Amino acid sequence: MDAPRPRPYQPDGGLPARRVPVRWELAHDENFRRVVRRGTVTAHPEFHHTVHVEVPHLAPDRVFHYRFRVGDWTSPAGRTRTAPVSRARVSELKLAAVSCQAYADGYYTPYAHLAQDDVDVVFHLGDYLYEYAVNSVGNHRNYTDRTLPAVFDHETVTLEDYRLRYALYKSDPDLIAAHAAHPFVVTWDDHETENNYAGDTPENTVPPEEFLLRRASAYRAYWENQPLRRPQRPDGPDMRLYRRLHWGDLAQFDVLDTRQYRSDQAYGDGARLPGPAVDDPARTMTGATQERWLLDGWQASRARWNVVPQQVTFSQRKLDLNPVAKLSMDAWDGYRASRRRVLDGAKAAGVDNLMVLTGDVHVGYAFDIKDDFDDQASRTLGTEIVATSITSGRDGSERPANWTTYTTANPHLRFYDGRRGYVTVALGRDAARADFKTVPYVTRPGAPLTTAASFVTEVGDQGLKPA
Ligand SMILES: [Fe+2]
Repeated sequence: MDAPRPRPYQPDGGLPARRVPVRWELAHDENFRRVVRRGTVTAHPEFHHTVHVEVPHLAPDRVFHYRFRVGDWTSPAGRTRTAPVSRARVSELKLAAVSCQAYADGYYTPYAHLAQDDVDVVFHLGDYLYEYAVNSVGNHRNYTDRTLPAVFDHETVTLEDYRLRYALYKSDPDLIAAHAAHPFVVTWDDHETENNYAGDTPENTVPPEEFLLRRASAYRAYWENQPLRRPQRPDGPDMRLYRRLHWGDLAQFDVLDTRQYRSDQAYGDGARLPGPAVDDPARTMTGATQERWLLDGWQASRARWNVVPQQVTFSQRKLDLNPVAKLSMDAWDGYRASRRRVLDGAKAAGVDNLMVLTGDVHVGYAFDIKDDFDDQASRTLGTEIVATSITSGRDGSERPANWTTYTTANPHLRFYDGRRGYVTVALGRDAARADFKTVPYVTRPGAPLTTAASFVTEVGDQGLKPA
């Protein structure tokens, strides 16, 4: 049988509206001589011919290679790996954290480097795509030999819009290489749906019932196009994305969703002076159910490191030098009562080695998480590592204009770099090491990768020290 040939950027993907059988293979070796498991899965037109293969009972802590076949066509091979079982004693895990990859802002050069990097798993912390129009305005990729189709020249609203946008992003060779090299654990932020939405409240004046139709389309296209399992399959505008993963006895990952259940931003969003709303215990970043799940999970945790991959800046970040400074109402600073409950829950659970992984802000930060951010003598409860963007914000600079203000106003901010790149974190039994990796530009291809700074934090003695 001839394989159907997809035509990118066609509303139906260029595929006929019929079910397509897809054969898959999983092997120990990249030449597929030692096949471990194989099967056939149906690609449904209702899911835009995407497939999700779940292979239970694989050997833990091993690398595998996978590929797909349709008719006479065989896909390139991808590499993935299983985690060690949660009771296994594990000495090290090396992860990468990435976020924010606006397609038109530049080339995915950091992903080309990440594809070659030695990591066990990649955490994507959101803004995998942007809903804004992609056109010649502000486009920092070179399209001299390939004109960007007009179909992308508007904001994504419908299911078809979101599906096409994933097709565009996923056509990037560096992103393809990164996915093929490493397993990804994904969570979303706002732009996979709409800038700065909060629960069922959109950014603009669209009524919630109309916005939820858009959210349903965005969530469905996200699930179709990401490595997610059946429990994450959306039901209308609802999708259970927060979930818990273990890496032996070394790390417990509580992957959060801080968009779907949050209260609307206080004071109209943006940079604002904090008022009573930010300390109102009725407002929430996680929703009550997810918060309970997180705190219960910490109570039950036996892991050496408790890592929280999530979206928006967790630590206090004063945006000016005034005694009462403006704060970002979209970040945890706008939900201080919610943050207090989370930190009190970590303390009550005896979580000693807490690490928060964050995206969203298009710069790299390293924070000590203080029990009281306004008292630098208070206990350090953990560390927050903020991964800069892959491309969003274009080239950036090492020291943005507000560098001195931010580092002066926030003594617990130990590192701030405004260039593109990603972070790797090596978790060990005695310490964790974070390496902030940056490229000097993304608006031209081929930038080299350098390590801008490295920090360690020791088990039982939280707080970042230069490595
Ligand atoms: Fe972003």
